[in-house]
Amino acid sequence: MSRSAHPAGPRHADVLPEGHYSAPADDLNVLDPKVWARTVGRDADGVVTVGGIPVTQLAEEYGTPAYLLDEADFRERARAWRTAFGDDADVFYAGKAFLSRAVVRWLDEEGLNLDVCSGGELATALSAGMPAERIAFHGNNKSPEEIERAVRAGVGRIVLDSFQEIVRVAHIAQSLGGRQRVQIRITVGVEAHTHEFIATAHEDQKFGIPLAGGQAAEAVRRALQLDGLEVIGIHSHIGSQIFDMSGFEVAAHRVVGLLKDIRDEHGVELPEIDLGGGLGIAYTSDDDPREPHEIAKALTEIVTRECEAARLATPRISVEPGRAIVGPTAFTLYEVGTVKPLDGLRTYVSVDGGMSDNIRTALYDAEYSVALASRTSDAEPMLVRVVGKHCESGDIVVKDAFLPGDLAPGDLIAVPATGAYCRSMASNYNHALRPPVVAVRDGAARVLVRRETEEDLLRLDVG
Ligand code: LLP
Repeated sequence: MSRSAHPAGPRHADVLPEGHYSAPADDLNVLDPKVWARTVGRDADGVVTVGGIPVTQLAEEYGTPAYLLDEADFRERARAWRTAFGDDADVFYAGKAFLSRAVVRWLDEEGLNLDVCSGGELATALSAGMPAERIAFHGNNKSPEEIERAVRAGVGRIVLDSFQEIVRVAHIAQSLGGRQRVQIRITVGVEAHTHEFIATAHEDQKFGIPLAGGQAAEAVRRALQLDGLEVIGIHSHIGSQIFDMSGFEVAAHRVVGLLKDIRDEHGVELPEIDLGGGLGIAYTSDDDPREPHEIAKALTEIVTRECEAARLATPRISVEPGRAIVGPTAFTLYEVGTVKPLDGLRTYVSVDGGMSDNIRTALYDAEYSVALASRTSDAEPMLVRVVGKHCESGDIVVKDAFLPGDLAPGDLIAVPATGAYCRSMASNYNHALRPPVVAVRDGAARVLVRRETEEDLLRLDVG
């Protein structure tokens, strides 16, 4: 995924190993606002604070590892997306990035809609009072039970992902005496420049119905004939952690092309187009994400231009950012357990969590940054690999980064930009207890999701 080969500047080992890392920052104590939540800073003692509370105090109260989430930042980012797209568009927060009942209430208050992709996410959304008509239900293999629940609840849209599902949803809606609003998810054949596992618009993968070979057109043809469905639009999600808008440009061009074909064949202009989520965030200082207003402007212009060329009324646009809203708002706080220098290689720093609370490094080769959080230090930078406590050598949290050379057991270190897809993909590997998510705002902290306990683990073990 990156970047420069060998750093200049002070070094811990005489020979630095091959790796993907940038030169150490001039001052490791400085927190780059690009990768940290907005209220993060250091107090007079050099301790990292969030929402006005020092992490040492949060660690004492809630333990480590812990995800610390900046509520003000979350709300600001959600609002920025909402404001950027205005009243003529809809922003659906992608709940898969991180979902809890408090988050649902914040979204509701900030005027966002919600994308859910499982019965569990739907249950969370409904139990926190998100109005069903503001929920979109996704997934490539929704069960009949999940579909029935969504239809009964009155979700605003179900995004259809296969020919079987078109029939299934129509049948269930009809048998419940209603008509379900649906979008049809297509794959437009774009190669998004991101990791293979999180790219979703090329044709050789499980999501959506290919535009190629007329399959998407055939799906629309069938859906339009079914009484149980009200087809409101076409959906395209090209992938995740994307910085380059050109993929969206091609996607919009092809989706609008399909809308035009539908108009020509059926005499219907579908009123909506959903361009999915996928906008990238800064995990390290080398990443340069775009602001929501730039993204909104670019997407709106693309769709408007394409529709004018096709002589179509511009449809209502929706987007589904997950990572771009929640990703930067949280960081993971760990305690250092061991520091193991390997001569001529790097120093392994073991923390009290690992791949069970952040699988992204192992799974996608994701890059993260890290900072000493419980104090500042003027010691020389040393090249470190931050690793977890799990029984697997791939258990890496931060592959290559610099920390002060006097790092010692008991220090707290923090990994920024872990708000998206870390708690939501956390596991109990090695019977690890998943960390809590603690929201901090204006000097007050509260637990959104509590730490798991051994009783939680044993409760499932009914054998
Ligand atoms: N809409 C749809 C239909 C999606 O499938 C996704 C993500 C999103 C929106 C939100 O994408 P975002 O804005 O958060 O990038 N576990 C991976 C990411 C998988 C994303 C799956 N779908 C990761 O940790 O990077």
